[in-house]
Amino acid sequence: MDTTGTHIASGAIFFLLLLCLSSLSIADVIYSPVELFSINCGSNSSLSTRDGRNWTADIKFLSENKDSVAAPALTPSTLEGPYTDARFSHSQFTYSFSVSTGPKFIRLFYSTSYQNFHRSKAYFSVKAGPYTLLQYFNASLNADADDDPDNFLFREYCINLRDGERLNISFIPSTEDSYAFINGIEIVSMPPFLYYTHPDDDITGWPQPVGLNTNPFPIENNYAMETKYRLRVGDQQIPASQDTGMLRSWDVDNKYVTTQSVLSLDIESGIKLRFTKTPNYTAPDTVYRSLRNMGSNGTVNMGFNLTWQLPVDSGFTYLLRLHFCQLDPRIENPGDLSFFIFVQDQLVEDWADVLGWSDKQKGVPVVRQYAVVIPGNQQERLNLSLKMHPNPQSLAKDAQINAIELFKINDPTGNLAGPNPDPPLPQSPKRVPLESSNKKSHGTTMRTLAAIAGSVSGVLLLSFIAILIKRRKNVTVNEKGTSRDNGSLFVPTGLCRHFSIKEMRTATNNFDEVFVGGFGNVYKGHIDNGSTTVAIKRLKQGSRQGIREFKNEIEMLSQLRHPNIVSLIGYCYESNEMILVYEFMDCGNLRDHLYDTDNPSLSWKHRLQTCIGVARGLDYLHTGVKQVIIHRDVKSANILLDEKWEAKVSDFGLARIGGPMGISMMTTRVNTEVKGSIGYLDPEYYKRNILTEKSDVYSFGVMLLEVLSGRHPLLHWEEKQRMSLANWAKHCYEKGTLSEIVDSELKGQIKPQCLNKFSEVALSCLLEDGTQRPSMKDIVGVLEFVLQFQDSAVNYEDSSSHSTVPLSDCSENTGSSMTSDGDRSNGRMESFVLIPDDVFSETKNPKGR
Ligand SMILES: *[C@@H]1O[C@H](CO)[C@@H](O)[C@H](O)[C@H]1NC(C)=O
Ligand SMILES: *[C@@H]1O[C@H](CO)[C@@H](O)[C@H](O)[C@H]1NC(C)=O
Ligand SMILES: *[C@@H]1O[C@H](CO)[C@@H](O)[C@H](O)[C@H]1NC(C)=O
Ligand SMILES: *[C@@H]1O[C@H](CO)[C@@H](O)[C@H](O)[C@H]1NC(C)=O
Ligand SMILES: *[C@@H]1O[C@H](CO)[C@@H](O)[C@H](O)[C@H]1NC(C)=O
Ligand SMILES: *[C@@H]1O[C@H](CO)[C@@H](O)[C@H](O)[C@H]1NC(C)=O
Ligand SMILES: *[C@@H]1O[C@H](CO)[C@@H](O)[C@H](O)[C@H]1NC(C)=O
Ligand SMILES: *[C@@H]1O[C@H](CO)[C@@H](O)[C@H](O)[C@H]1NC(C)=O
Ligand SMILES: *[C@@H]1O[C@H](CO)[C@@H](O)[C@H](O)[C@H]1NC(C)=O
Ligand SMILES: *[C@@H]1O[C@H](CO)[C@@H](O)[C@H](O)[C@H]1NC(C)=O
Ligand SMILES: *[C@@H]1O[C@H](CO)[C@@H](O)[C@H](O)[C@H]1NC(C)=O
Repeated sequence: MDTTGTHIASGAIFFLLLLCLSSLSIADVIYSPVELFSINCGSNSSLSTRDGRNWTADIKFLSENKDSVAAPALTPSTLEGPYTDARFSHSQFTYSFSVSTGPKFIRLFYSTSYQNFHRSKAYFSVKAGPYTLLQYFNASLNADADDDPDNFLFREYCINLRDGERLNISFIPSTEDSYAFINGIEIVSMPPFLYYTHPDDDITGWPQPVGLNTNPFPIENNYAMETKYRLRVGDQQIPASQDTGMLRSWDVDNKYVTTQSVLSLDIESGIKLRFTKTPNYTAPDTVYRSLRNMGSNGTVNMGFNLTWQLPVDSGFTYLLRLHFCQLDPRIENPGDLSFFIFVQDQLVEDWADVLGWSDKQKGVPVVRQYAVVIPGNQQERLNLSLKMHPNPQSLAKDAQINAIELFKINDPTGNLAGPNPDPPLPQSPKRVPLESSNKKSHGTTMRTLAAIAGSVSGVLLLSFIAILIKRRKNVTVNEKGTSRDNGSLFVPTGLCRHFSIKEMRTATNNFDEVFVGGFGNVYKGHIDNGSTTVAIKRLKQGSRQGIREFKNEIEMLSQLRHPNIVSLIGYCYESNEMILVYEFMDCGNLRDHLYDTDNPSLSWKHRLQTCIGVARGLDYLHTGVKQVIIHRDVKSANILLDEKWEAKVSDFGLARIGGPMGISMMTTRVNTEVKGSIGYLDPEYYKRNILTEKSDVYSFGVMLLEVLSGRHPLLHWEEKQRMSLANWAKHCYEKGTLSEIVDSELKGQIKPQCLNKFSEVALSCLLEDGTQRPSMKDIVGVLEFVLQFQDSAVNYEDSSSHSTVPLSDCSENTGSSMTSDGDRSNGRMESFVLIPDDVFSETKNPKGR
């Protein structure tokens, strides 16, 4: 070997050494963030901390209100970090960052002991782009309620930026004498599909829904999330520096475990983990080398559920991610260890078999995801429960887990903020940390630590007290800052009546007949001295997210008049009330005549007539008014039927004025928020943000199949091929086995040619390329033809017996069904009574309406 070669080699080694030295002190960087800003707010000097972070001065990122004051903390913090300085202001200030496209973590760091400013006057909101991260945030209250004895607060969010967007983070004092402040901000990019769903993912890979309907729930790019919990099981927190490169910290779970359990640490640390099911940056190795189980011992474990209780804010959807890895030398085959998983007491896995999930490979981390809807008004704290129990058929009677992540998804208005905790009760005893967790673990094989049984953490206790206090108080929305102006409704007078709250009380006998809805209740009422029966939809008081839909619905509906569009009679918008008054629809909604119902089945002819009515209504929206109106939430639950069985399109909360026919609207922010109901959503719309009236055509196509098959468009318990009705129908159409999908109630009623024509038009609505889909006008034509053809075949088998189904008494059958998200009161599944599908569509699509 000649000397030049050696020189080059040593040069390269030197260069490599330099690289190593200059890189962070972070262990095993698996993912290198493209962007990493750590901002020491209020400081003009930079600061390096041992966790590998370089905190830089904030002034160059301040884009607004440069005269906010930098103020030093009262006591220099014992914790290393950006805590010794803070930026304060009595008026709004904004940081602006130029960052690349793609998802980012935003982290906010707070210390609440500082001088010059009164601690209890920190009361503010934080907004990042279109999302509200904190609202009316009382920093001292939050710091005090926190289990941490220090005055620190930490919040982490995930948001996804689009091309060319600057990320602006604004701090807005909530009242005149309050101020906003911040100690540290961090922005770190993350891999694009770590938490967000890949657009090409099959629905089987989407988070499984829990708590409501059965629709899988992709985490769309336009959602923002707040990290509520990132818990590893183990005896020590994993600090940011030990993460896979994104500076996430992993807390311990023991505060949230409420039953007996056993912790195993450093399992098989000699075996290399194989990241074949998840990317290697998903979590640090140590996460997968400790697990919590029940303390496997024969049938002893059958008597209880291994349980976690995680306090969360109600009124949001949560993404729950469970991490597993099988390293136990005693588990050799799939089935050796299998358990049940319950989320919110709902069985989500009846055969959780980690080895099975990882293709029989040991040491392969796997992640399971669930979308958990926690109904409520955003003012309460509730527990999200996770329970595990051995499957009796499993060889080993145990259950195990390695880590739990829980994210809150923004609501339809882009809000992520929950309520402040209530003040601690006077003289409440100071809480002591439950477990000192500075024991260092160093066993090499399985080492077990008995964990606390039935511990109750201070946070949980506090939130429980908080709820008691809440109950005693009169909850009013008109707190400082939240009061609503009532003059901002621009409804052309004469088009739509205005009712006073007094009239509404009279009409409903003081809101007597309640049918619980999600954001509102629906009542049957009588106006004009009892001469007119109406449906009265009362939005929940203080439902901030409701205002936008409320206005939208009034503004849209008051201008529309068509026999196939539901009529809005008027509204009431007074003090805290938002009420909509509609014509009463005796026969309820279409879905309630198709499935999950006790109502008699609708005949084929009636179904066809209904579809034609809906198609006419949609055609009117698309072509009959000055501007194209895109409904965006066409589905059977939003089709109402009057006493003559005339179909009417309802629920215009999501409707949008479109561009000229066929021209997509995708430029302004408001239009790029994908909304609608999962199962009916146009893929072109949710994948590529292209919204045209053809998105309604798509949803209408799904509805046609729903009508034909009498089932929900997505049934996740069905075998994969049948899970999505649209895919199943395509498949059957291609195979020529269309009769498979036909509702068994319709057998013998449909003439084969009609079935073909009907299916063809339905499937043409579902074409991937929107421009290829027919217009509603064309569809009306085809469906009318199908109906005529069917009529001409009256004698086809025994259709006559069906077409005479007595339909006139629908109002008895459906109780007093009134509007789409109203009545489910006739003794069907509890979950439907409490949370109608319509609300589901809102919670499922938490981006603003
Ligand atoms: C922090 O600064 C040090 C010294 O300037 C540098 O070596 C290191 O790479 C920086 N770390 C990051 C994360 O930028
Ligand atoms: C992580 O996975 C990527 C892609 O599979 C691979 O290129 C990389 O070497 C892995 N990193 C480590 C530290 O194993
Ligand atoms: C930093 O700020 C302090 C106080 O605001 C000031 O005294 C000092 O001169 C500043 N240093 C630099 C380098 O600007
Ligand atoms: C962010 O702030 C910058 C600077 O103030 C401003 O030019 C830009 O329009 C803002 N961007 C957004 C999306 O609000
Ligand atoms: C914030 O909480 C403190 C108690 O920690 C209280 O004294 C103060 O009034 C609260 N501020 C506001 C604006 O509610
Ligand atoms: C199970 O527990 C019982 C009582 O605690 C104990 O006697 C027995 O040895 C345990 N069995 C195993 C397999 O650990
Ligand atoms: C475990 O939890 C589920 C869901 O709440 C419940 O149905 C079951 O009875 C529980 N099992 C035991 C043994 O407590
Ligand atoms: C949440 O769970 C904890 C522990 O079981 C319990 O103490 C607390 O009361 C629960 N909170 C609510 C709101 O149910
Ligand atoms: C609180 O509620 C009670 C009973 O509903 C009512 O009499 C009282 O006026 C309310 N107080 C406020 C401040 O709204
Ligand atoms: C809001 O409406 C109420 C009752 O109609 C009225 O008394 C009040 O003056 C209105 N407020 C505003 C700001 O218009
Ligand atoms: C309702 O009845 C009252 C008194 O009976 C009458 O004055 C009023 O005109 C009636 N209103 C309507 C809308 O019929």
